[in-house]
Amino acid sequence: MHRVVVAGGTGRTGKAVVRYLANCEEIEVVGVVSRMYAGTDLRKLLPDLNYSIPIFKQLEQALLAVKPTAVVDFTVPEAAVTHFRLCIDNKIHPIIGTTGFNDQEQSLFADLCLKHRVGGALIPNFALGMVVMKKALAEAAAIFPYVAVIDYYSDQKKEVPSGTSKQLAAELKIYDNYKCREIPVYSFRIPGQNASQQLKFGGQGETITISHDVSDRICFGLGVYKAVINIGKFNHLVTDLSDLL
Ligand SMILES: NC(=O)c1ccc[n+]([C@@H]2O[C@H](COP(=O)([O-])OP(=O)(O)OC[C@H]3O[C@@H](n4cnc5c(N)ncnc54)[C@H](OP(=O)(O)O)[C@@H]3O)[C@@H](O)[C@H]2O)c1
Repeated sequence: MHRVVVAGGTGRTGKAVVRYLANCEEIEVVGVVSRMYAGTDLRKLLPDLNYSIPIFKQLEQALLAVKPTAVVDFTVPEAAVTHFRLCIDNKIHPIIGTTGFNDQEQSLFADLCLKHRVGGALIPNFALGMVVMKKALAEAAAIFPYVAVIDYYSDQKKEVPSGTSKQLAAELKIYDNYKCREIPVYSFRIPGQNASQQLKFGGQGETITISHDVSDRICFGLGVYKAVINIGKFNHLVTDLSDLL
């Protein structure tokens, strides 16, 4: 049985992920971390949960009390860095969905995993549609000489551009067509907008658009589930969701 603590399990994404994981047979969500709801039970927020999940103020307390095998994090970068270190120190697998890290922080995560030989995951988009998008990206990038990355989110999303856009732009840079040029990234923040990631490829007299649209945050659940189940096979940092499927 995989014992999972979800840091940020009371947030918009964390709640959807907990709801998904709590229905998976091989996983028990043994705790949630939230400063605002600490000391209560997650059932107060999610009455349809089929078991009780205690809420802790800090990850340290959760680690001592419920001894997880993995920690899933959907919080903010500052907290996620602290959580990552704590996990590695305790030989617990960190699975980070939080976005917005700088290059230094990403290198730190990779170094910590390698040094302590603990598998960790840093995945800016757990939706399975992103795996398909990246496959389609490879086909189009081999043919079209121009590409732009576009992201649409609600105005609640602080990060500009999105972590997914940054990862897509980095991935495009490996193709000969784009090695020597800047890849433009356009971000739109619009009240009421669901998350949408697009790649627009251009050629002579034609364009092709690959679009991934989120209609419900439950779409992140299956990717996180796969990460929890498979992260034990690694002793380095995994950044590509397809490696965890
Ligand atoms: N990888 C993916 O597939 C994916 C998908 C969606 C979102 N995300 C990312 O996930 C993150 C969370 O997004 P969201 O929309 O769910 O945010 P949200 O609704 O604001 O929830 C944030 C959660 O983090 C906790 N939190 C906030 N500040 C904290 C701090 N300083 N220390 C500890 N906990 C803190 C909050 O609880 P308390 O304030 O009670 O502590 C809350 O539970 C963002 O970085 C977002 O880009 C990633």
